[in-house]
Amino acid sequence: MDRQINGFLIILWRVLLRTIVAWGIVISFAHSETHDQRIKKCEAIPVAVPAFSCKGDGSIVPKTIDAQGHCSKPEDLYSRCVYQSTLGQLAKGNTDGVEILYSCRKKPDGKNTYKNDKTDSYYDIAVIQHDPKTGNTCFYQHLGDTSGKSIPAPNKDTGGKFWNEKPDFCTSCHSNGPFVRSPHYADVKDGANKVILPDVYRRKPGKHSYKVLHDHFKVYDVDRKGNDCTLCHSIGAYESLGITPKKRIGMVNYLAAGSLMSLRESRTSGCYSPLKSGKCPSPTKSGYHDFMVGMMGIDAAGAKAAVKELEECVNKKPMPRDCTLTKLSP
Ligand code: HEC
Ligand code: HEC
Repeated sequence: MDRQINGFLIILWRVLLRTIVAWGIVISFAHSETHDQRIKKCEAIPVAVPAFSCKGDGSIVPKTIDAQGHCSKPEDLYSRCVYQSTLGQLAKGNTDGVEILYSCRKKPDGKNTYKNDKTDSYYDIAVIQHDPKTGNTCFYQHLGDTSGKSIPAPNKDTGGKFWNEKPDFCTSCHSNGPFVRSPHYADVKDGANKVILPDVYRRKPGKHSYKVLHDHFKVYDVDRKGNDCTLCHSIGAYESLGITPKKRIGMVNYLAAGSLMSLRESRTSGCYSPLKSGKCPSPTKSGYHDFMVGMMGIDAAGAKAAVKELEECVNKKPMPRDCTLTKLSP
């Protein structure tokens, strides 16, 4: 009798296990979008990303770094002071008004600031393709040592090999809208002396459209009555993919309001700051890069409190009644 029950339990367990494995495969298949599938979806944007060259089509991001390695406008993504990054706009002046911006970043390499580097080698090449009329947006990224001389168009044969990073997580930082105007890039001008990044003030809470076409962490617009951040521009939240998705305020907002030392702070590895100390502090004098603090009457405590207020809209149950949370991307 005991043996029979045991046998039954073993069979039950095997069936259960098989179901779990089968569903696991189904779920992971459902989430593994290929480069070609992504390109097809992104064709809804009327102007495609062309081939380009890092230096030829953009501007070198100006830098000033003091003797201690501090800078006022660090590169926030890798939390470092670095020369020779480039920022540029492609398909300029296209009649559809599509905005295609790219950045070429040097390899995160300890204390290397690339001050006298005249080479064409880059490590992180990224593109954002955005149609302001519809909000449709696509992200592309290459990671790994490469020459920045002739970058292939994503929709050409060699494109699938080159654009090797899955761009689903980009919205965890690119949450307030498609572009991030950190001081590193915010004022960079093109050859015609025009600021490359589009104006931040066109993104009003609940009013701008932002729809990422490929697989991505879902994006939400967050607003709360009387909030000091959304007074000026929209603030976004994202929801990670996976079995237990969680909503969070876009990471750049914690940085900009001084609640986070750097975007790499929470990581256990991959700290590239010259001030390396286990965590990854921002390479500024204060250790923080709270570039929103001081904007029109917002002090450090006020800025942090304003982000906290919005955070409650995202994770407090029940949601405070003066909050609005709008899902932007399906
Ligand atoms: C951890 C945060 C973070 C993630 C994740 C992230 N970015 Fe960014 N990105 C930034 C920051 C910050 C800037 C502004 C420059 C700086 O200070 O580093 C930026 C700037 C850019 C720019 C230059 C135009 C602009 O908006 O300023 C492009 C292009 C870009 N990112 C593409 C991507 C792509 C593609 C992905 C996903 C594959 C991605 N990013 C993921 C933080 C992030
Ligand atoms: C007085 C208007 C104003 C207020 C208030 C304001 N911002 Fe900004 N914000 C700006 C401007 C302008 C920029 C563009 C950066 C620049 O020009 O240096 C910007 C850029 C940003 C960026 C860079 C990414 C992006 O979306 O381009 C973040 C993040 C940000 N703000 C977060 C916040 C947070 C968080 C608060 C509240 C604590 C806040 N802002 C309050 C005006 C404001």
